[in-house]
Amino acid sequence: MGPVSLGFDTSAPGSSKRRREDTAVVKPHVVPQQQSANDPLLKVSKPKPARESFAFKLRPRDIKEHLDRFVIRQDEAKKVLSVALCDHFQHVRLTREGDTAPHYVKQNVLLLGPTGVGKTHLIRSAAELIGVPFVKADATKFSETGYVGGDVEELIRDLIRRANGELDRAAQGIVYLDEIDKIAGREAGTRDVSGRGVQTNLLKLMEDADVPVMSPNEVPPPGTPRPRENSINTRHILFIVSGAFAGMETVVRKRRGSAVDGISTSQLIAEATTQDFIEFGFEPEFIGRLPVRVSCKGLTADDLYHVMRDSESSLLRQYERAFRAYGIEVSFRADGLRQIAEQAAAENTGARGLMTVCERVLRDFKFELPSTRIRELVVDASVVSHPGEALARLLRGRRRKPSKARPAPAA
Ligand SMILES: Nc1ncnc2c1ncn2[C@@H]1O[C@H](COP(=O)(O)OP(=O)(O)OP(=O)(O)O)[C@@H](O)[C@H]1O
Ligand SMILES: [Mg+2]
Repeated sequence: MGPVSLGFDTSAPGSSKRRREDTAVVKPHVVPQQQSANDPLLKVSKPKPARESFAFKLRPRDIKEHLDRFVIRQDEAKKVLSVALCDHFQHVRLTREGDTAPHYVKQNVLLLGPTGVGKTHLIRSAAELIGVPFVKADATKFSETGYVGGDVEELIRDLIRRANGELDRAAQGIVYLDEIDKIAGREAGTRDVSGRGVQTNLLKLMEDADVPVMSPNEVPPPGTPRPRENSINTRHILFIVSGAFAGMETVVRKRRGSAVDGISTSQLIAEATTQDFIEFGFEPEFIGRLPVRVSCKGLTADDLYHVMRDSESSLLRQYERAFRAYGIEVSFRADGLRQIAEQAAAENTGARGLMTVCERVLRDFKFELPSTRIRELVVDASVVSHPGEALARLLRGRRRKPSKARPAPAA
């Protein structure tokens, strides 16, 4: 597999270094509001060098191919995302080159789908490829006023931190908001009302808003100059929101009546229309700002097998590494993987079930083997179905050494 090609031209001095540091989040100090006003540091801070070049070079197929390396299935979501991302970043490039489109409508994305099927994984992988700063948050952590929960504008300031203070880069980042279905104000009541308020706050950001670079209560950490500019515009920040939308099937069923007999829940959710989202509890203005909609599908046992076997981010690498740390080579046989996939599918938590099953199966091996002289572990179907017995056999066989023969299966 070739090296990852970056969407943006990295010829600006130091830009690749900055990108690697994207994960470092600088926590600001919080001080009373008055102290941050008219800060003398404002006057001495040096302007950040503008990026010399900004060339988004990717085509939808490039993004899809990259996503294929890490995410199994979800072809429709990959395609829709690839197109939306390319449209967005090509638009950003053209605008920066002077070709403005005053009536351009931003392609914010709504991603539906059950838990653990790759929604976050898709967005994170795409953001890495494109090389733009990326923040992820749960919509539930925000409140209408920002007093109890967070203020939605913090998302944009997080993006600035991810971009190491470079407003230019932050202004074309990606904001990913999970659990968006939880801020639907379905019933007039306690926090649902707040949910509608959060929607209202978000929709301003999603389109075009100026966000103060610093919240009124913060000053930069010592030694960090204050930003030269006071606000950042969100016009070129792409918003991707996602949620499982449990209960949406009832809304769709009600609208379509008996015509839905025999259609699966996930299929019904995938067919939700704008009207259904409004019925579900979204403000028309909010859902209207999410024109690109696509759903991720549930993963079957066979898909989960491929997640382990074929994905470059397979959790098997993590187990191999953990055992290798003690000089133990672990290998997984196809029948073992099939068995893990079957058990994981029954968990109904998508690919997250794989970790649950692997932990359950391998935890005693992880505890015992490092203190023995056993150097090899083959995970096959019998290990996965009866890990306790398999471990006992392995340990017994070890004591009986020096014979090289594999221990006979227990009666
Ligand atoms: N389709 C997939 N292909 C490869 N790996 C996957 C896939 N789906 C999930 N995974 C793995 O499972 C983990 C959890 O997936 P992810 O965080 O993308 O779930 P999600 O769809 O965002 O779920 P949630 O709605 O609970 O946030 C990922 O880190 C990834 O390793
Ligand atoms: Mg997620």
